Amino acid sequence: MTTAPMPDFPAGFRWGVSTSAYQIEGATTADGRGPSIWDTFAHTPGRIVDGSTGDEACDHYHRYAEDVALLAGLGVSGYRFSIAWPRIQPTGRGAANPAGLDFYERLVDALLDRGVEPVATLFHWDLPQALEDAGGWLDRDTAHRFAEYADLVAGRLGDRVKLWITLNEPFIHMSLGHGMGVHAPGRMLLFDAFPVAHHQLLGHGLAAAALRARGCGPVAIANNYSPVRLAGDTDADRAAGAAYDALHNRLFTDPLLGLGYPEGLGFDPGVVRDGDLAVIAAPLDVLGVNYYNPTGIRAAEEGSPLPFEMVPLAGYPRTAFDWPVVPDGLRDLLVQLRDRYGDALPPIQVTESGCAYDDAPDADGRVPDPERIAYLDGHIRAVREAMDAGVEVTGYFVWSLLDNWEWAEGFTKRFGLVHVDYATQRRTPKSSYAWFRDRVVRP
Ligand code: NOJ
Repeated sequence: MTTAPMPDFPAGFRWGVSTSAYQIEGATTADGRGPSIWDTFAHTPGRIVDGSTGDEACDHYHRYAEDVALLAGLGVSGYRFSIAWPRIQPTGRGAANPAGLDFYERLVDALLDRGVEPVATLFHWDLPQALEDAGGWLDRDTAHRFAEYADLVAGRLGDRVKLWITLNEPFIHMSLGHGMGVHAPGRMLLFDAFPVAHHQLLGHGLAAAALRARGCGPVAIANNYSPVRLAGDTDADRAAGAAYDALHNRLFTDPLLGLGYPEGLGFDPGVVRDGDLAVIAAPLDVLGVNYYNPTGIRAAEEGSPLPFEMVPLAGYPRTAFDWPVVPDGLRDLLVQLRDRYGDALPPIQVTESGCAYDDAPDADGRVPDPERIAYLDGHIRAVREAMDAGVEVTGYFVWSLLDNWEWAEGFTKRFGLVHVDYATQRRTPKSSYAWFRDRVVRP
C-alpha cells in the first residue's frame, strides 16, 4: 500500500458496499418466508465446511436499523442488497406475501432517510425450493416466474430503488451450483448445465422488460469476471486461455450485449428458441462487474475432459481464501471489456470487490485489518487507472458491509468492513471501515 493520497473520482461517483439476503438476514421462517435452495443445501450434512447454516446469519432481518446506521456512518451513497425471492413468493409463484415486501420497504425507506441510495439485486442465488422441485433454472418456466416476481417487487419499491440488478453472478450459480455441485442446488452436470445459463439470461431479459413496463430503471446485471493470465506461451496455452475466457467472461456478456453465445464451448444450444437472444440483448443501463482475482490457465493434459487447466498464480499476496491479490487484474479486466465490446458496453459499476482475512478483535476491542486496506487501496487505484484509459466506471461497491455467511465456507471467511461476533451479533467496525470513510468516500 502506498501512503499517497487516493486519486480523485468524479462528483457523483457511487461509493457503496454490498451484501446479499441469505448471507446476512437470518429469520428464514419469519413472516411467511418460504424455503430456498440454500436452506435445503445448508441443512444437508457435509455441504458447508463448518456445518453452519444461514438460519441466523447476521440477524440483519431484525437488526437492519443498526446496519443502516453503520451505512450512514460510513457515508456511502449506495447500498447494494438483495431481495429474497422466497420472502416475496414463498413458493416462487402466485400472489406476493405482503410481509415480505414490507421488510424491504422498511429497509429502503430507512436507507433513503439516511441519504443512502438503495441498489436492489433481485436474485442472489436463493431460489424458492418449490421452483427447484419443478426443475429450477434447468426449466424455462423459471425465467417467466422470475419476471413475475420482478414485477411484484417493482410494484412496491419501483419508485424508490435507484438501480435494479436482475441477477448476481449467473456464471457462478451455473458453474458452482449446477456444474460442480459445491453450491446449491448441488447439481453436478458439468457442461450439461448450459440450460441454467440460458434460462437465467432469459429471466434477466424478461425481468428487465417487466421493470421497464413499470417505468423502473436503471437496469443492470452483476457478472463475475476473472481475466486470464496465461501460465505458458504455446499455441495450446493460448487456445486454452481463449476457451476459459469464453466460458467465464463471455458466456453471459456476449449475448447480453448482442453478440450471441460464444462459439466452440461444446454446449448443446437446444434450449435456445427463436427470439430469445433479442429478449436477452435488451438495452442494459449499467454493467455490474464483480472482480476478485484473475485465473491462471494453461493447456490441459491430453485426454482431459476440459479444454484448459487452472494453475495457481504464484508471486502474489494471498487472502484467507487463498485467492491471489492482483489489483492490476481489475484494471486489465475493465480495459478488456471496453476493448472487446466498444460502444455496446454500458457504463460499468464495480458491484463487488473485496477480500477475506481472519480478522479478530485485539485486546482493546479494535479490529485492525491492514491487509484489507491495502487490498482496497490497490483495487480503487486500479479502477482510476482504467478510467484514465477511457473506461466509463460510475461506481464501486466493497464486498461486504458485514462479515457474513460465505456460502459453502459458512462463517469461516470474513469479508466485512464491519466485524460480526456471531455469538452475540455484536458489530465492530474494522480499521478498513474508517479508512474507506475517511480516505475514499469523504476524503
Ligand atoms: C461473490 C458473491 O456474489 C458473494 O455472494 C460472495 O460472498 C462473494 N463473491 C465472495 O465470495
